[in-house]
Amino acid sequence: MCGIVGYIGNRNSQEILLEGLKKLEYRGYDSAGVAVYTAGGLQIKKAKGRLAILESQLQDSPLEGTAGIGHTRWATHGKPSDVNSHPHTDNSLKFSVVHNGIIENYISLKEELIAKGHRFVSETDTEVISHLIAELYDGDIVKAVQKAVSRMTGAYALGVLTEYEPDKLVAVRLASPLIIGVGEGENFIGSDIPAILEYTRNVFILNDGEMAVLSRNGVELMTLEGNFITREMFHVDWDIVTAEKAGFDHFMLKEIHEQPKAYRDTMSARISPEGDRVILNEIGMTDEAIRNISRIHIVACGTAYHAGLVGKYVIEKLARIPVETDVASEYRYRAPIITKDTLVIVVSQSGETADTLAALREAKRCGARVLAITNVVGSSVAREADDVIITWAGPEIAVASTKAYTSQLIAFYLFGLHLTQTLGTQDASYVQNAITALKELPSQVEQILDQSEAIKKYAEEISTHDDLFFIGRGLDYAVAQEGSLKLKEISYIHSEAYAAGELKHGTLALIEEGIPVIVLATQLELLEKTVSNIKEVKARGANVLGIGVEGEGELKKSVDSTFVLPKTLDLLAPALSVIPLQLLSYYASLARGNDVDKPRNLAKSVTVE
Ligand code: F6R
Repeated sequence: MCGIVGYIGNRNSQEILLEGLKKLEYRGYDSAGVAVYTAGGLQIKKAKGRLAILESQLQDSPLEGTAGIGHTRWATHGKPSDVNSHPHTDNSLKFSVVHNGIIENYISLKEELIAKGHRFVSETDTEVISHLIAELYDGDIVKAVQKAVSRMTGAYALGVLTEYEPDKLVAVRLASPLIIGVGEGENFIGSDIPAILEYTRNVFILNDGEMAVLSRNGVELMTLEGNFITREMFHVDWDIVTAEKAGFDHFMLKEIHEQPKAYRDTMSARISPEGDRVILNEIGMTDEAIRNISRIHIVACGTAYHAGLVGKYVIEKLARIPVETDVASEYRYRAPIITKDTLVIVVSQSGETADTLAALREAKRCGARVLAITNVVGSSVAREADDVIITWAGPEIAVASTKAYTSQLIAFYLFGLHLTQTLGTQDASYVQNAITALKELPSQVEQILDQSEAIKKYAEEISTHDDLFFIGRGLDYAVAQEGSLKLKEISYIHSEAYAAGELKHGTLALIEEGIPVIVLATQLELLEKTVSNIKEVKARGANVLGIGVEGEGELKKSVDSTFVLPKTLDLLAPALSVIPLQLLSYYASLARGNDVDKPRNLAKSVTVE
């Protein structure tokens, strides 16, 4: 993780770096720092804690200069501290580096450099990069960086400055995201587009193994071996306001409220004008290729994995193809059985998650076709997969994923229906009925959001508890897992999600007087069974909130309170039932005084294994 920015131009670089870092703070926020070329040479300021601390230090004693680099950190090697913060430098203080990623062989490099007289001050892997570049420098910073990276293994996006060549900013990418912003008389680097969007909409997306040399008047792209590359510029057509809070108290609340739009944007161009067919033109899979799929693996992490759990039900129900859903960090190391007729679907909001990317590469190595569901055009996952379904949720800034998850669900519904149409596993009227119900989802989400007050009240009640359970069967169990993760990550309340029928096999022992249990009961075929499980927890004193669908009286009779969702198909219910759970975790976190958008210990983009 971590976020990096860089600027070279004619304006005050400190301000531009700080603005960029504010947009990147979601990537890590335990410390921050900048290095700026000043009249007195390369100067660094860095501080443990949120960016605001660095900002106030810079207000007191600004760094005046028109080129610089900046960093916001999520600690991997070395605890959060001033000295471990980036930028790092060498002993001469002439070279400065910001880094996102991990240098796997840093210990051997460090030993080698120490033997040559270098003195290290931090516990980080990054510090070796600045020493290594200084060691290899003989008058050409580009060559020194190329030589240095040829010695490094691991993942890195780097921004490098040296006082000896103040008209250059060097950027390198290997397995960590990095983009170059191209302006007039000024150029930028950033870990992602929002960091530079205020200044330019023209970007180059660097590929792995590529570097860029930025000056005030231009950008040169080249391979790490120094071969020049020509690349088409990418024009960003979304607006910066979509990446800002737009009047909401937190990005998470804004993003929860953006879901109706995200649903519409993700599905609209993919449904025929007659509303009877799904059209996934972006997928290059022929009908024959679809008929040849014998199994599907869905691979992802965290919330995206939970979307994959729903995806399994959806595809199995619609296409009758066996599906396994796996956590990416497990999948790649368990020697999964992947054949040429396996379709691997990777799901990733950022498209940069290291574990998911590694799973994708492993699947491709084994000859599988890979379909990516991702929110970021041009991300590594999008570029490396054979086929891509973009979820048009817009930039997601809050660490807790909301609109990306629900857009992933929409993508699974569309893909499941696309398979059904080709395989003929459901008849045309079923498909048409499902599409009609899909199109109703955005306004149904709006109806749920209108009832936010009720969820807020319940969230305040449960916010004083230390433990809580979510239960459900079938698709409700998949959503329960997402509800539980959301609550844990931002409210820090311990919770567990259980398949409702599994509770009695051990965990029921934890149910005691007053413990909150949230029951998802949207799957009407399973309702009777779920009600029996509600009785089991009620008998042990649990306080039960039931989340069910309109017109279902049975649930109401057996719980302490209910939240009623608009009626939809059982298969589509996850796209509605997760909304109150997102609101619940938001309001519980707020009631506990937590930093909703930046929960402790986490970062938005996890580019380390
Ligand atoms: C939780 C959350 C994470 C991400 C996970 C994968 O709210 O956001 O669990 O879902 O880190 O990230 P992506 O989807 O970017 O691969």
